[in-house]
Amino acid sequence: MKKLFSLVLVLILSLGFAAMARADYTVGTNPEFPPFEYMDDNGEVAGIDVDIINAVMAIVDPGAKVDIEVMAFDALIPSLTTGKIDIAIAGMSATDERRVSVDFTDAYFKATQAILVAADNEEIKTVDDLAGKKIGVQMGTTGDLYVTDNVDAAAVDRYDKGLDAVQDVVAGRLDAVVIDNAPAAAFVQSTEGKTKVVAAIETDEVYAIALPKGSDELCAAMNEALAQLTADGTIDAIVTKFMTAE
Ligand code: ARG
Repeated sequence: MKKLFSLVLVLILSLGFAAMARADYTVGTNPEFPPFEYMDDNGEVAGIDVDIINAVMAIVDPGAKVDIEVMAFDALIPSLTTGKIDIAIAGMSATDERRVSVDFTDAYFKATQAILVAADNEEIKTVDDLAGKKIGVQMGTTGDLYVTDNVDAAAVDRYDKGLDAVQDVVAGRLDAVVIDNAPAAAFVQSTEGKTKVVAAIETDEVYAIALPKGSDELCAAMNEALAQLTADGTIDAIVTKFMTAE
């Protein structure tokens, strides 16, 4: 009886602790994807995703430390499955293939793919015009998968950084880049008139936060926070802030 009592006591104490716990969270991202994540002028990771994860975690675990860890985009899922990071937020599309290895929260943004070409390119106007062309993508992204599976390209060059692909379009080494619509628009701006977006490809993708498989409790708490931040207009305000800042 005494043993049971102390067991129950330990249980109550540890439950209480868990409820109050301020965990540290390591959040992986790949800041090559403005306006969702990029390195700002102070060398800090900034963007829509940084503000969203900070707002979400401030609700889920107030006072907890949120550390951003920078890595290649295609390293994010392996880092979640091996426990190197706790959370990934990277404009990551919640695809069925990825759902095999990770859990996703509810969606926070809807995206399409976009075709970006040199400003003086008159040849490529639709996705059909990509056939036989040299196309750049960011390695391991949905743009990469789309082009690999659907376009009869002369070559598909896979880059770590979307901007490097865009610069190769400017330099005439690539005919087009296929990348998500929001970063495509940001790259058009940052190349100052040297590139343009000619078409969107409706890939029906949504961005969500990725977690290690089996993160049911954390995922539920994050979904509640996301719902709250959507309802009170915070998510919209964050998106608008960075879309117009770019
Ligand atoms: N939405 C695309 C995908 O999930 C591209 C994301 C790239 N994100 C980044 N931070 N580099 O594949």
